[in-house]
Amino acid sequence: MRWWDLQRNSNHTTIVTIEKVIDETPTVRTLVFSDSVMPNVLPGQFAMVWIPGINELPMSVMISQESGKAAFTVRKHGLASTGLFNIASGGKIGIRGPYGNAFDIKSGKLLLVGGGTGLVPMMRLLTFLKPTDDVTVLIGAKSKNEVFFESLANDLLKNNVHNVIVSTDDGSYGENGFVTDVVEKLVNESHFDAVYTCGPEKMMYKTVQSAHSRGIFVQASLERMMKCGVGICGSCCVGEDLACKDGTIFDGNHLSKNKEFGYSHRNKAGIPENY
Ligand SMILES: Cc1cc2nc3c(=O)[nH]c(=O)nc-3n(C[C@H](O)[C@H](O)[C@H](O)COP(=O)(O)OP(=O)(O)OC[C@H]3O[C@@H](n4cnc5c(N)ncnc54)[C@H](O)[C@@H]3O)c2cc1C
Ligand code: FES
Repeated sequence: MRWWDLQRNSNHTTIVTIEKVIDETPTVRTLVFSDSVMPNVLPGQFAMVWIPGINELPMSVMISQESGKAAFTVRKHGLASTGLFNIASGGKIGIRGPYGNAFDIKSGKLLLVGGGTGLVPMMRLLTFLKPTDDVTVLIGAKSKNEVFFESLANDLLKNNVHNVIVSTDDGSYGENGFVTDVVEKLVNESHFDAVYTCGPEKMMYKTVQSAHSRGIFVQASLERMMKCGVGICGSCCVGEDLACKDGTIFDGNHLSKNKEFGYSHRNKAGIPENY
């Protein structure tokens, strides 16, 4: 550890250098960097990532299998995420954090449901599970060319009883249809001790409903519009909750009483919009 790391404040931006770029799909890349803090964050925590000259975005902290390294896995979408996606090896970004709470880690028979880049916190969660846990990972994607982390999930779970299931909306790979239909089938067929989810909010809403209505412990990580990341601006509010500070992870019991979860969110101007 260097002397300036001892004084590192999570609200100060630290500049890191991208050391490796991994193409996951045509639109998703993982950017690996060395850091003293981010490799050790709790599962579900995020960072605010400054893309120089463009913007700052919230990003879940991705694992790296190399010691002392962490990563971000980004899907190119608008200006800022495309800017991050295009940063090459040797390029620099700024990071502050980690922010947010973490998943409550249960044992036994566990179901992890990730849609798109919502799989990132699921991969970190896998590294915190016990070898005695029986783990099912459900990966949701629009089509075959958008599937990623299937082999990583199998690799991380090689010492567990496990099952990695892929579901594509267009049926081009794995199960045919929406991931939430597979969730409903799985929770009907077997008893799970806990369900964890991250991805599009409609997907999380249905997943939480499927588990909570059967009395299964469930947690969802909410990806709301975030500007400050530290509870000041209010852009991430979900009813009375601030996703960045009170979450991002909430349990099913709490979410089932929140009228905004799964229904409406705030756009960049702070105006509520329905999903
Ligand atoms: C806690 C958290 C973790 C996230 N982790 C990841 C991740 O690991 N990988 C990844 O690719 N994306 C992640 N996102 C989403 C990411 O921050 C951006 O939303 C996305 O990359 C699109 O940004 P854009 O400005 O390029 O797109 P735009 O075209 O400008 O916006 C597209 C949509 O992205 C969302 N969005 C835009 N800006 C923000 C913002 N500041 N905060 C939240 N949502 C925004 C809005 O829904 C918007 O409609 C995460 C979001 C949150 C809140
Ligand atoms: S992002 Fe500003 S309060 Fe949550």
